[in-house]
Amino acid sequence: MSAPIQNQVSLMDLEPAADDLTREVLHSLRETPHRLSCRFFYDETGAKLFSKICDLKEYYLTRTELQIMNEYLGEIRHCVGPKAAIIEFGSGSGQKTELLLESLERPWCYAPVDISREQLVELAERMSARFPDLWVQPVCADYNTPFNLDGIIEADARRIVYFPGSTIGNLVPEQAITMLRRMKGLVGDRGAILLGLDLAKSREIIEPAYNDSEGLTAAFNLNALKHVNRVTGTDFNVSAFEHRAIYRPEQYRVEMHLISSANQTVRINGQCIRLEKGNHIVTEYSYKYPLEVFDRLLATAGLRRIRTWFDRNRWFSLQFIQSSACP
Ligand SMILES: C[S@@+](CC[C@H](N)C(=O)[O-])C[C@H]1O[C@@H](n2cnc3c(N)ncnc32)[C@H](O)[C@@H]1O
Repeated sequence: MSAPIQNQVSLMDLEPAADDLTREVLHSLRETPHRLSCRFFYDETGAKLFSKICDLKEYYLTRTELQIMNEYLGEIRHCVGPKAAIIEFGSGSGQKTELLLESLERPWCYAPVDISREQLVELAERMSARFPDLWVQPVCADYNTPFNLDGIIEADARRIVYFPGSTIGNLVPEQAITMLRRMKGLVGDRGAILLGLDLAKSREIIEPAYNDSEGLTAAFNLNALKHVNRVTGTDFNVSAFEHRAIYRPEQYRVEMHLISSANQTVRINGQCIRLEKGNHIVTEYSYKYPLEVFDRLLATAGLRRIRTWFDRNRWFSLQFIQSSACP
């Protein structure tokens, strides 16, 4: 389960098996509307495309969250406290995490959890070299599936779950509540959650972030089909799909779709899925909650916001969250 990689770092390998992925893809393609998990965006190519998207002018999220962090690092450090164990969900390139770890007082453990194996290994090696006193424990897993870090992180450590990038917005509210409950259990009453959340705002700001003029988001969305073909043996004809992103403010979310540009049949594991021209597959939701709506999700999960940092436009928030039972 644990394989050594360079710099004394061992990967905890909980990556889902190909058979399970095939079953999941078949099941989600049979749903109405057809769906594919946004997890399939992030193979090696997808992870690189996402890093480029983060640098786009239209993709305000990364720039804005970094701006908040840079401005409030002192306060964040104070809230997190010394010798913390940082568990990051969906660590990606770790750009924000590097900033966080640099500012913290003697953090002792960093456990990045991500499904994108190549990027995760690269990140773990980079962090291990960059912070030689830090124990780096990468976990390759689907973060929606419970995993246990008890054998790795001491019971009395102050655990901080770090979940930046508004990645929680990729979960529908019921899944987000389940995830928040799990995080609450993972950190216990002594720990906390540091979470980046994009906020509801006008369509003119949100939609271009998912429909950029360079076509990177379109390439990122379509790449999910190539990834699914490779890992599950599906025969998606990638050139017969088009990217579309729509903001639906009444549902607080952006929807990313792949639109079938022809009548076609997709084969997976001996089964056929029929798609008519104009049918769509939902590949991602990105929820943009008003603060009070997200507070209700937190309350349902037994959590509450202790501190909130905003950018000057109040487009994005970084929240420090604890169990409601904490004083
Ligand atoms: C929107 S990116 C955010 C990356 C980074 N945290 C940031 O703030 O820029 C989402 C990250 O979560 C990972 N991810 C997506 N779905 C996942 C899943 N189901 N399980 C584990 N990791 C997942 C992706 O590989 C990617 O690195």
